[in-house]
Amino acid sequence: MKKKVLVTRAVFDETLAYLAQQFEITSNQADEIYPPAELAAKLQGMDAAVITTSDRVDDALLSRCPGLKAVCSVSVGYNHIDLAACTRRGVMATNTPGVLTDSVADYAVCLTLATCRRLTEGESVLRRGEWKGTHLRELLGIDLHHATVGICGFGRIGQVIARRLKGFEPSILYCDQIRAAPDVERELNAMFADKDDLLRRSDIVILILPYTQQTHHFIGARELDLMKRKAVLINVARGGIVDDAALVEALKARRIWAAGLDVYENEPKFNPGLLGLTNVVLSPHIASASEPTRQAMAMTAARNCVAALTAGNPPNLLNPEVPKHNA
Ligand code: 8YV
Repeated sequence: MKKKVLVTRAVFDETLAYLAQQFEITSNQADEIYPPAELAAKLQGMDAAVITTSDRVDDALLSRCPGLKAVCSVSVGYNHIDLAACTRRGVMATNTPGVLTDSVADYAVCLTLATCRRLTEGESVLRRGEWKGTHLRELLGIDLHHATVGICGFGRIGQVIARRLKGFEPSILYCDQIRAAPDVERELNAMFADKDDLLRRSDIVILILPYTQQTHHFIGARELDLMKRKAVLINVARGGIVDDAALVEALKARRIWAAGLDVYENEPKFNPGLLGLTNVVLSPHIASASEPTRQAMAMTAARNCVAALTAGNPPNLLNPEVPKHNA
């Protein structure tokens, strides 16, 4: 009998076709987010699930799905998965590192430029029919070229952002728990800095670190106070890394100059205070959303799922402590 796999969100035809070669698939091509109770109901009798960051996998859910052997997320971040609970219950958890690095780095630069040069604010002037010709002092922005850019989180994506930025000839500071190797620092012309020092010195601060208990509100009122009044904050990492309420206050009071946000606390909800501000550029968590990248992410998750259910050794296993015999 074929094993059963739930795909919780709409995916690409080739991903479904690949999974269907091996498994009986239930897919959610209607793409409605399943609330927790519905997700638990849909998971009954399933051997594995291909999920996204919208699906919370916690102990309460797992306790209701004793047959589940693997959860394979179409994401690199996995803060929506309680890894310890998965391990305790013998459920393999996987993510999709690597395949989205370039697209997320591209988007970080895109959001930085859009925010520094007030792209959406300018567009809305046109859309409202209010453009009266060029005024020399209107919509003045901040230059990315030759700026001091602080990158918080210098893993795979953080380093590629630094590489992308090279053409803008910035001074790059970075902070991370681990210092990069000397040859990486040299190649990227990046200087290791203490967090507070980075915040004080940077014209632009880009957040690209994982969300954990330790990084919860990594940027709050205290940190925003340390930043330059002309500073720009970019978050392409995770909601919760920034205290959004404190950010709204700082933007309102012009304690920092602007922010570009792709992620929010409590997505898909977000702080409504952001909507009343002109000095913020907002996007709906799309940093990895290029067509080839989302396809590659979905296929990576599907390959993880096949390997998990057939051999018990998915390439991107997050909890290798789960015994292999669970496959
Ligand atoms: C996901 C993301 O595409 O990979 C991640 O961690 O945040 C995004 O790239 C999106 O959340 C779908 O799961």
